[in-house]
Amino acid sequence: MIYPFEKEVLVKQEDIESRIKVLGEWITNDYSGSEGILLLALLRGSFMFLSDLAKSIKLPVTVDFMSVSSYAGYETGGIVRIHAEHKTNIEGWDVILIDDIVDTGFTLESIIELLSTRKPKSLRTCVLLDKKSRREANVVMDYVGFTIPDEFVIGYGLDVDEHGRNLPYIASVDKEKYAEFLKKS
Ligand code: IMP
Ligand code: MG
Repeated sequence: MIYPFEKEVLVKQEDIESRIKVLGEWITNDYSGSEGILLLALLRGSFMFLSDLAKSIKLPVTVDFMSVSSYAGYETGGIVRIHAEHKTNIEGWDVILIDDIVDTGFTLESIIELLSTRKPKSLRTCVLLDKKSRREANVVMDYVGFTIPDEFVIGYGLDVDEHGRNLPYIASVDKEKYAEFLKKS
């Protein structure tokens, strides 16, 4: 434990590692004939996932990023803000959109809608965590790491107000302890 407000480890480091190997094998099989794979990751939450996933894909890939946010604290604002756009012209690419976690689904839904207008050859989604019980938007996830319960989680790139991204595992947040931590800091 690094942060005083970690409640419980929901996904262990070794389970993340082995699942990402499997996702990498699936993607490697599915895209073996591709003329160009673009891994397009949503910052900042997916930076660790992207890095490990990219290494598990045994095909040439290009990597790009968009920076988006919809959350403040535990609450999603529903409005997705784009802070930085991808550099690659995605027209004609097989794009795999990478995100850390799907909660309501509004983030992924709006980015999928936007990217579709930019004419990729194909567009699929790959997410590490699926908080299924919270879903409001109708989004298709093609590659999913783990389904998790309705808990706010940190670690492996995910944060609560920028805290917790460096944990090598996924942990739930103890909201009372986090409130105490905020008072002290
Ligand atoms: P959605 O738009 O409600 O699906 O929210 C997706 C985004 O909210 C993710 O890309 C995360 O950045 C953030 N998010 C949702 N749930 C959590 C969580 O439990 N921990 C940290 N970030 C989260
Ligand atoms: Mg995110």
